[in-house]
This record gives sequence, C-alpha cells and structure tokens, in this order.
Amino acid sequence: MMFVRTPRLSRRLALGSLIGAAALVSVPAFAEDTVKIGLIVPMTGGQASTGKQIDNAIKLYMQQNGDTVAGKKIEVILKDDAALPDNTKRLTQELIVNDKVNVIAGFGVTPAALAAAPLATQAKVLEVVMAAGTSIITEKSPYITRTSFTLPQSSTVIADWAVKNGIQTVATLTSDYAPGNDALASFKEHFEGGGGKIVEEIKVPLANPDFAPFLQRMKDAKPDAMFVFVPAGQGGNFMKQYVERGLDKSGIKVIGPGDVMDDDLLNNMGEAAEGVVTAHIYSAAHPSQKNKDFVAAYQKAYGVRPGFMAVGGYDGIHLIYEALKKTGGKADGDSLIAAVKGMAWESPRGPISIDPETRDIVQNVYIRKVQKGADGQLYNVEFATFGPIKDPGKATKK
Ligand code: PHB
Repeated sequence: MMFVRTPRLSRRLALGSLIGAAALVSVPAFAEDTVKIGLIVPMTGGQASTGKQIDNAIKLYMQQNGDTVAGKKIEVILKDDAALPDNTKRLTQELIVNDKVNVIAGFGVTPAALAAAPLATQAKVLEVVMAAGTSIITEKSPYITRTSFTLPQSSTVIADWAVKNGIQTVATLTSDYAPGNDALASFKEHFEGGGGKIVEEIKVPLANPDFAPFLQRMKDAKPDAMFVFVPAGQGGNFMKQYVERGLDKSGIKVIGPGDVMDDDLLNNMGEAAEGVVTAHIYSAAHPSQKNKDFVAAYQKAYGVRPGFMAVGGYDGIHLIYEALKKTGGKADGDSLIAAVKGMAWESPRGPISIDPETRDIVQNVYIRKVQKGADGQLYNVEFATFGPIKDPGKATKK
C-alpha cells in the first residue's frame, strides 16, 4: 500500500502501466484483508485440557458468528507449546516474524503468558490472555488484556466465606508457582484478617504432582478445611488421591478457588466431590439463558461439558471480534488495545468487562457447592454472587 503514495508509482500510473500497478497494489491489499491470530496453548502434556477447551470454544464461536468481521477474514493459527515457556517464546517469535500475526492469544499457564509479554511489547501486537491467572501478567506489557481471571478474585471471596461459615483452621495446598502463590497470599490475607488460623502450608510441584505424601500431612494437621489450588486439569487426580488417603472420611473439607472442581473433570470425581464449596468465575450450571445455550452448543459439538477455560477462550475471541468492529478492521496493537478498554458484554459466566486502566477482566465471583443435578451428574451449583470484582491482587500490591 505504501507504494501507492510514492511519486514513482504515480508516474507509472500516469504512464498507464496499469497491470503493473494492480499487481503491486493487490498483493498487500490481499494480505490486509486477513487478520491472523496466533493461538498458543498447551495441546499436549499435563495442561492439555486447557488448550483443548480454548481451541474448541474458539472454533464454536467462529461457527456461530462467521469467520469474517469488519470486512476481514479471521485466520487462527494454532500452536502447541505444551505449557513450556521456552516453547511459547519461540512460537510467539515465529508467529510474529514469519506468519505476521496481528494478535497473539491463549497462554495456558502464567510462565507462558509472561514469556510472550516482551515480544508483544516489542512488536506492538495485542496479547489476549485466555487462561493464565496471576495478577501481575497484565502489568508486563501495555498490549496485554485478559479474559480469564485472577486467583485473588476467587481466593479472597472463598476466604471471607470460610470466616463467616465457622471455619477456624485451614491447611493450604497450592501449586508451587506464581498463581498458587497469588492464591495463597490473597487467601491468607483475608482469612487471617478475619481471625482464621493457617495451621499448615504445603506447596506441590506444578508438573505431575504426587499429592499422597502431602495429603498425609494434611490429615495429621487436622484442620477444619484444606484450601486447595491446583491448575485446571489436575483436580481429578487430586480428588482421587484425596479419597485413596481417606481424607473424604476425615471431616476435612476441601475449599478453594474453583479450579480444582473444573467442570471438565467434575463429573468423574465421584461422591467425594459432593458438598465441596469453592469460589469461581464460571460454572456449567450458571443459570442464564446465555450459558444454557453455550453449554448445549458446546456439548453438541464436542460431546463434553465446557469448563472455565473454554469460557476464557470463547470470551477472548469475542473480545477480538468486537475490538475489530470498533477499529473498523484495523488490527495494529495500539488500535486494538484502545478498543478493548472499557468493553463490557454478557459472557456465559455472567456480565464481564475490561478495566480501562489495567486492561484486566472485571467479573462476578460465585460461591458454589457440588451437588447432583436432576440428570444424576455432578454440578457446581452457584448460591451466592459477589461483584463485579476487579483484581484484588493489584490493589494490595500498590
Ligand atoms: C496459571 O498458570 O496462571 C493458571 C493455570 C491454570 C489455572 C489457573 C492459573 O486453573
């Protein structure tokens, strides 16, 4: 396109070299008719369920809404980083430099979102975080926005609930990396602030954790409840070991952010999950029409229930579509990030918006209890709503 404005090309046009001019102009014009999204998620390894949910949800959204927006064809280029940040960095670089993507999106874990951040800044490309949940992420590049959640959003709410519901002593079990530390710090602040006591703090490795030895320590500590954060995909294995170690019979309740009771895995957890209370941003049983339609369409397309990672992907692609509508199809990072600030819409999880100052998601947090539905399946049934909540992690750090 740049060539059109040069005197040389004007001369060529004036000379009537129309075929040549058309060739010069049409090549970049064609490229600009496509908006490319580099979707980087774990499709293999321990976090694969996150990538599959996000990929599924994006495909569903594009089937429902078409693959053209503001005159642009949307092309999604899917890359599997197996949740390893070195892969994320390399793939992000390749997508930006070789594929010339306009947007990078996905990021199943915090280290992946962080690895991409400096590249988003350098290339001035919008980075849409659809899964990772550590507070600090959005502060790492002015081009980052988020459609997932932060751990402090849910952890502060469950802490306040625990205090109010007679839970006096808690042992914590958290994944030993950034979102686990965020969950722990914000839970502790609210729970101890409300007079509760933490009697044991256990951190488990992120990759292939064996919970058994830690669960024995939990049993010995005899708290009223255990606060658990494990990332999406690990809750099933955690609950299996919880039962194997007899904790279901010990009277120690599981509480936490809802990641451990992910709808994706919940129905296979069995009786031990019944009655577990968690705070989270999404339940497949959220009683809105928007969610009923979403769950039905997702189930029809993929034969399984969507979990909270699917919703992060569904909202993430919606945000990109709406931003492109606002910019009239302009896909540079500065235009897109300006367009997302203050955006608000109804998600399957409920009403959400993007904080214009932090570019982070603002949303309700629901307290839910696992119960058997009329269909005999297990659901996180929401019974109290708090919000809209901005990320409390940022407020406490400043
Ligand atoms: C993260 O790595 O930020 C993360 C991953 C999965 C979760 C929550 C946080 O469920």
